[in-house]
Parts: sequence; structure tokens; C-alpha cells
Amino acid sequence: MTVSVLFVCLGNICRSPTAEGVFRHLIQQHGLQHKIKTDSCGTAGYHVGAKPDSRSLATAKKRGYDFSDLRARKLSAADLDNFDHVLVMDESNLEDTLQLANESNKHKVELFLNYHPDADIAEVPDPYYGGADGFEYVVDLIEAASYQLIEKLK
Ligand code: 4NP
Repeated sequence: MTVSVLFVCLGNICRSPTAEGVFRHLIQQHGLQHKIKTDSCGTAGYHVGAKPDSRSLATAKKRGYDFSDLRARKLSAADLDNFDHVLVMDESNLEDTLQLANESNKHKVELFLNYHPDADIAEVPDPYYGGADGFEYVVDLIEAASYQLIEKLK
């Protein structure tokens, strides 16, 4: 049986493709690519079809991750039926995603950082309008949560 995970942010060019890229890498390291499926998308459609942000790609590349193959797409209501886990980056994504959910699928939607070992850290902050530090911090948070998520799913 496979389990599927969808990562959601606003634009699907910074945080959620980074999460998909890091988590996918971990899945491959664990040999779980036939058991765990991943995807990512954005609640907004501004960047549909675009590659991940070059700053996200460059930051992640230094740390051994490559997700330059990914292209942005927009979240749909069907995603909430089609995926087992829908992991959002911040409270605003949570609100927007839950607007597409119904009684039978809303339990799948949660903050990705529920899997972060530090319970006080809840959101992956949007790095888009900030500096390079923000992109590094995004990878730090995503790595820590990914390690815990794969332990839960494997
Ligand atoms: P993301 O970052 O949600 O992590 O992909 C953003 C990318 C683009 C925009 C906002 C956030 N934007 O406003 O274009």
C-alpha cells in the first residue's frame, strides 16, 4: 500500500517545492519510493507552470537537494480526496486549504511543522520577499520536520 503526501504553500515556488524536494530525497535514501508518493502545490495560481524560485534551488543545492524538475500548480478540491496527508506551511495556507475541504477530508490537513521536534515552531515563514537567510531557515525547518515525518510514515 502506498501513502501520499501533498505539501502546500502560497505560490508553490519556494516552500512547498523545497519540502517536496527534501522529503523526496529522504524517501529515496530510505528506499521507500514505491511506498510514499509526494507532490506539492500552491493555494494561489500566480506561478502556475513555473520552476521553483532560483533562490530556493540554489540554497537547497548547497545542501544536496535538487528539485529543479518541479513545476508549480494550484491546489484543487480534488487534491484533498486524492492525498492521504496535506501538509501546509503556515496558518494562512491552513485557512485557504480548509476552505476547499469537506467533513470527510478535512482531517488530512495540518501544519507541516506539527512534525517539527520543537513544539513552539508552527510555521515555515514565507521567504519570497526576504534575504538569503530566510531561504536557509526554510530548509532547516523542512529538514527537521521531514526526519520526523518519515519516521511516522515508514
Ligand atoms: P511560496 O512563496 O508560497 O513559499 O512559494 C511565495 C512565492 C510567491 C509569492 C508569495 C509567496 N508571490 O506573492 O508571488
